[in-house]
Amino acid sequence: MSKTLQAVRGMNDLLPTDAPRWQFLEDTTRAVFEQYGYRLMRTPVVEPTPLFVRSIGEVTDIVEREMYSFEDAMNGEKLTLRPEGTAGLVRAAIEHNILYEGPKRVWTSGPMFRHERPQKGRYRQFHQFDVEALGFAGPDVDAEQMLMLSRLWQKLGFKDVALHVNSIGDAEARKTHRQALVTYFEAHRDALDEDAKRRLYTNPLRTLDTKNPAMQALVAGAPMLKDYLGEAETAHFDGVTQRLDAAGLAYTVNPRLVRGFDYYNRTVFEFIAKGRDWELTIAGGGRYDGLVEQLGGKPAASCGFAFGVERVMMLLDENPPEQVEASDVYVVYADGLEQHAFTVAEKLRDRDLSVALHGTADGKTASFKSQMKKADASGARFAIILGADEVAAGVVSVKNLREGGEQVKLPLDDVALHVCGSALGSNLVA
Ligand code: HAM
Repeated sequence: MSKTLQAVRGMNDLLPTDAPRWQFLEDTTRAVFEQYGYRLMRTPVVEPTPLFVRSIGEVTDIVEREMYSFEDAMNGEKLTLRPEGTAGLVRAAIEHNILYEGPKRVWTSGPMFRHERPQKGRYRQFHQFDVEALGFAGPDVDAEQMLMLSRLWQKLGFKDVALHVNSIGDAEARKTHRQALVTYFEAHRDALDEDAKRRLYTNPLRTLDTKNPAMQALVAGAPMLKDYLGEAETAHFDGVTQRLDAAGLAYTVNPRLVRGFDYYNRTVFEFIAKGRDWELTIAGGGRYDGLVEQLGGKPAASCGFAFGVERVMMLLDENPPEQVEASDVYVVYADGLEQHAFTVAEKLRDRDLSVALHGTADGKTASFKSQMKKADASGARFAIILGADEVAAGVVSVKNLREGGEQVKLPLDDVALHVCGSALGSNLVA
């Protein structure tokens, strides 16, 4: 017997039971992004490999060992499954010259691919919502993006998502700081772990972000980037924190936050969430003033972030939204009334209700009792019951599955009002 095929390690299926919460997250996110004037863009999942090497950086973890890269069997072109969204969006913005009429706020979402060691909250295919403000130089968009995310967490019902911010300065400050870091780490070469040794001359900044407990004391004594920032960089960062203060958004300035992409400069930030037995970065981003020009466009200072859908879902699973999306009504019917029920369901949809129709199996209709159980389990707020009496009287019976009360008989035309009226009533009470 052949072995049953399974999903690739680190890649997940989304099942119907989880779908309502995913959709709740996606709908809420879209609504918040639109409130801030961000517009949807979509780019391919596959891009030329050099795009990621040039933007993310040759000596970053992602480019060094996490990319799904391959050669096109037809023409030998080097291609990569996108490990993140920024590079593709910037490539597309340049290719279609979308910044010619001024700055643009855009967002995208979809699967990203990184060949990491799978564990809770870390997958090889995962999903991001990615936001980019292209062509905005001031500190206002940096702060706006943090406020936008914080508003999203609030709408999703999350409390205590910690915001960490830092400024990593511009290229010149980083160069001077980098030299000081190399000198410092060289003087403590014996205390460096393998990663730090490997990165000593290629990416010493990344060592500041090490999770290795044995390296913490060494890192604590290392030269701090903030001591190398010039006036303009300091003013920009002050502009960000002043706006966060004015909006009352709490944050921690974390001088060790550096992020693992070469394109960043000045502001970087992360949102860190605590679950029952886990703590993870759910969103991260920052400013990348040089990237558009570096990839061949006209200079356009920019800032963006992405959040991981699976990680936000982990938080949502532990803080379930009160109202999980379900159908407004579930239609149950007596044996022999399948066609009638089918027609009634369509007519209810004409009246803008969402309707789940009980399915038949091989032409057999289940008992009312078993259909009502299914109606209840579906999460629908109302059952529409169709029996011979209802057909004879030209009405349907409506039962409130969530709040109980009398079952009522109504003409089809009055069902939508009854269902929506009850929702309105319960909202007013809440
Ligand atoms: P990132 O920090 O690499 O940033 O990813 C953003 C978020 O994606 C992370 O905070 C995390 O929630 C999620 N994520 C990353 N890797 C995984 C994984 N293997 N499994 C599950 N979730 C993951 C970026 O990707 C930047 N492009 C963000 C950005 C946009 N910066 C400027 N614009």
